[in-house]
Amino acid sequence: MLKIDILTLFPHMFDGFVSESIVKRAIEKGKVEIQVHNIRDYSKDPHKKVDDYAFGGGSGMVLMPQPIFDAVEAIRTEKSKVILLTPQGKVFKQSDAQELSLETHLILICGHYEGFDERIRTLADLELSIGDYVLTGGELPAQVISDSIIRLLDGVITKESHELDSFQEPLLDYPTYTKPQEFRGMKVPDVLLSGHHEKIREWRREQQLERTRKRRPDLLEKR
Ligand code: ADE
Repeated sequence: MLKIDILTLFPHMFDGFVSESIVKRAIEKGKVEIQVHNIRDYSKDPHKKVDDYAFGGGSGMVLMPQPIFDAVEAIRTEKSKVILLTPQGKVFKQSDAQELSLETHLILICGHYEGFDERIRTLADLELSIGDYVLTGGELPAQVISDSIIRLLDGVITKESHELDSFQEPLLDYPTYTKPQEFRGMKVPDVLLSGHHEKIREWRREQQLERTRKRRPDLLEKR
């Protein structure tokens, strides 16, 4: 059982995430527990303030250390892995999802506004970015990372559906088709209708290599 605690100023951003589809089912089956905490609830300020101006000037408000330190210290155990979401983190990959799916307790800290006090970094075991673009906060990255970990947990989806994933081995997926056999003049390739399993396997492999070569040659260089 994996426990994920999420620290955020916008807990409602997670309402849809936990209440639909595979993540919802994983929670119902007891494969994962997700608890969303409002950072503001941990503020010791009389007005529940969580941010302030940057020393030295500069744009915008900065998350103060106190509420986040208190939240992490209240939630953390020896087994916890504390992850800070920031565009300055290591870029998240499928291999990180695999490693993190073996943990028992993750604490995800969502930064927001213009930034967070540098001292917050000392709480984190790991800083992750979901890519080289800047979002308004860590809430979507926390969902992206949680989703990719949860689908890897035993019993959440069938093993076959993720053992053949793109990136598990660094190749893109082959094309797939369902009914009808012909749609608006576009036909399902004959080989897939042949019932010849060895030929189908070969065709899919060729398609994977061809697609990867055309669309993501960088992945082949890494192989
Ligand atoms: N916060 C803002 N942008 C982000 C990104 N790309 N990854 C992780 N956290 C972020």
